[in-house]
Amino acid sequence: MNVAEAVASRRSIRAFTDRPVDLETLRRVLDRARWAPSGCNFQPWQATVLTGEPLRALQEKMLASQPQEPIEYSFSEPNGSPRHLARLQSLGAAMYGALGIERGDRQAREEQARDNVVSFGAPALLLCYFERFMGPPQWSDVGMWLQTIMLLLREEGLDSCPQEWMALYARLIKGHIGVPDESHILFCGLAIGYRQEDAVLNTFERERVPLDEQVRFVGFA
Ligand SMILES: Cc1cc2nc3c(=O)[nH]c(=O)nc-3n(C[C@H](O)[C@H](O)[C@H](O)COP(=O)(O)O)c2cc1C
Repeated sequence: MNVAEAVASRRSIRAFTDRPVDLETLRRVLDRARWAPSGCNFQPWQATVLTGEPLRALQEKMLASQPQEPIEYSFSEPNGSPRHLARLQSLGAAMYGALGIERGDRQAREEQARDNVVSFGAPALLLCYFERFMGPPQWSDVGMWLQTIMLLLREEGLDSCPQEWMALYARLIKGHIGVPDESHILFCGLAIGYRQEDAVLNTFERERVPLDEQVRFVGFA
């Protein structure tokens, strides 16, 4: 698989098979991902990867709890911008539409979103956190690391779904994995496993902004 194929075949997978993920494969991916770039070479990312009983125990705790107040960080800031809100709404329409859930059916949408709690059936969950003093440039570094992981997973035939939803349970999660809440912010989870090939949640059409609306090319012949 070349890089373009890894990029093209990656998508956020929301229905996994129960095939386990091998430790050696994960170690290989995460070892290679250490070569992701970061400003000043700070390498701010940190993670814990759970599978089996420790993962099930965490899911049970989340199922028995309510999202925390105050929230760990706001992940819906650009919702106030009509342009960005429209993109979120179009994702919702495609995803819930594929499941036959109507726009106004809030309860069904919330139940589907609740599937985040079990990471859509993924057998492994990477929990990504870093020190609270990190600023926006370091958040961006962590994103590059995560994307490097997601592409390397594709090379191994594995799939993933980033989950900022986990930030709703950040304190509970950090307590479970022994990461201090005072010093560390939980950014997101990364569900890892093998995709159910034909699941509608894994095959609905996704949208992207056209290239020329995003990038200007200047000075080319
Ligand atoms: C940092 C980050 C957090 C995300 N959190 C969630 C999440 O909590 N639940 C979810 O279903 N999808 C989540 N996503 C997936 C996005 O919805 C998805 O990347 C976007 O709709 C584009 O679709 P694609 O990844 O399939 O190309 C997240 C993506 C990123 C990059």
